[in-house]
Amino acid sequence: MEIGLFQDASSASLYAADIVGALISFKPNAVLGLASGGTPIKLYQELVKRHKVEGLDFSSVTVFILDEYLGLGKENLNSFYSYYNENLFSHTNLNRSRIHVLDGKIEDVKEHCKAYEEEIRKAGGIDLQILGIGSNGHIGFNEPTSSLVSRTRIKTLTRQTCLDNVASFGSLTEVPQHAITMGIGTIMECRACMLLAFGGSKSSIVAKAVEGPISAMIPASILQMHPCVQVLLDQGAATDLEMKEYYEHQVQNFKENMLLRMRA
Ligand code: GLP
Repeated sequence: MEIGLFQDASSASLYAADIVGALISFKPNAVLGLASGGTPIKLYQELVKRHKVEGLDFSSVTVFILDEYLGLGKENLNSFYSYYNENLFSHTNLNRSRIHVLDGKIEDVKEHCKAYEEEIRKAGGIDLQILGIGSNGHIGFNEPTSSLVSRTRIKTLTRQTCLDNVASFGSLTEVPQHAITMGIGTIMECRACMLLAFGGSKSSIVAKAVEGPISAMIPASILQMHPCVQVLLDQGAATDLEMKEYYEHQVQNFKENMLLRMRA
């Protein structure tokens, strides 16, 4: 695990866009795993900018989204489909046939999850997974106590996660209680991964995930077992880290290390 401490969220997002851009340049048919939430929005904005200004070409790129609220259809403005459409899909030349999403309205969820796993396999696996972290340590919607080898499935959301999402839904009763999410085992199969976390409100959970013991109570902590993970933090999210000085030193060759490992 490599920890990158950045001046602010913008510089971390620019760095993440550099990595995604480099991956697409050397592998035009790259497979990306995408995360929702406020954290990666600057990254998506930067990718859109690079597409429009520099011609970053998404035409052969395949994407898989991490999760979706159960019960919300594509047309629902709170669905993650709407989020990705608004922040990325509709502003790039991503080929619609290469956009893989989880359908919150699906009737046979079990079959849908199985098919999603199969689609990831058929696409050759995920080259680069973008991740955020929930305030309780979740990745995707793998809530604390999720099996560390879980596959794509339904999860019941914790009260904390529902509270964290009240702002988008207006009231707690409107927040869906369940979601479909890639499993932790599914996420762990990606070839490389970047976890982004910004702001002081994430500092305590980031320290637990990065420096604490691996535990199903902090699902993101399993990333310590992944051979190619970079954690991109702004100053606020890094506040509670014990080995901050070491990470500051480690930031040399940070980009080269990631690119080398992704090419391997
Ligand atoms: C949701 C998503 C996660 C995301 C998390 C953090 O719960 N399912 O994938 O990482 O929110 O969101 P934010 O970036 O807004 O803090």
